[in-house]
Amino acid sequence: MKSKFQTTSVASKVSAKTSGLLRAGILGLAVSAFLPVSQASAAGDAAAGASKGHTCLGCHGVQHYVNTYPTYHVPLIAGQHEAYLVAALQAYRAQTRAHPTMQANAALLSDEDIADIAAWLSAMGAK
Ligand code: HEC
Repeated sequence: MKSKFQTTSVASKVSAKTSGLLRAGILGLAVSAFLPVSQASAAGDAAAGASKGHTCLGCHGVQHYVNTYPTYHVPLIAGQHEAYLVAALQAYRAQTRAHPTMQANAALLSDEDIADIAAWLSAMGAK
């Protein structure tokens, strides 16, 4: 069961990459195909990420991509590639990427939290 999902997941990811058709819809398929594998490995569970990452939307709201107050630009993270999100959050947590606000936000996240939140955010944009 798991190995079947794994094969599907890898195949769809690879074909999506190599075909050069990595548009939102295709990415969405790749991401959702990837989800069942997630529970078996370090990768994320989007449903869990939704509850863990809810507060992130206070700043990373999808509407205007600015914080409510004070107003400053906040990067678009919904629909961002899952691997990019994981790397960014790990870098903030390790403080190898400088930004006090995000370092504070990432400080308490476990690897599992990061994986779940990344899965949730990346799937969010691929409607
Ligand atoms: C208080 C506001 C605030 C909150 C809350 C917040 N962020 Fe951020 N986030 C920012 C800002 C500002 C940046 C830009 C930092 C920089 O320039 O490196 C950022 C950057 C990021 C990036 C890097 C984006 C990129 O394009 O490189 C990721 C990923 C991210 N945040 C995820 C999260 C997650 C996940 C949460 C919830 C656990 C969260 N953020 C909560 C303000 C916030």
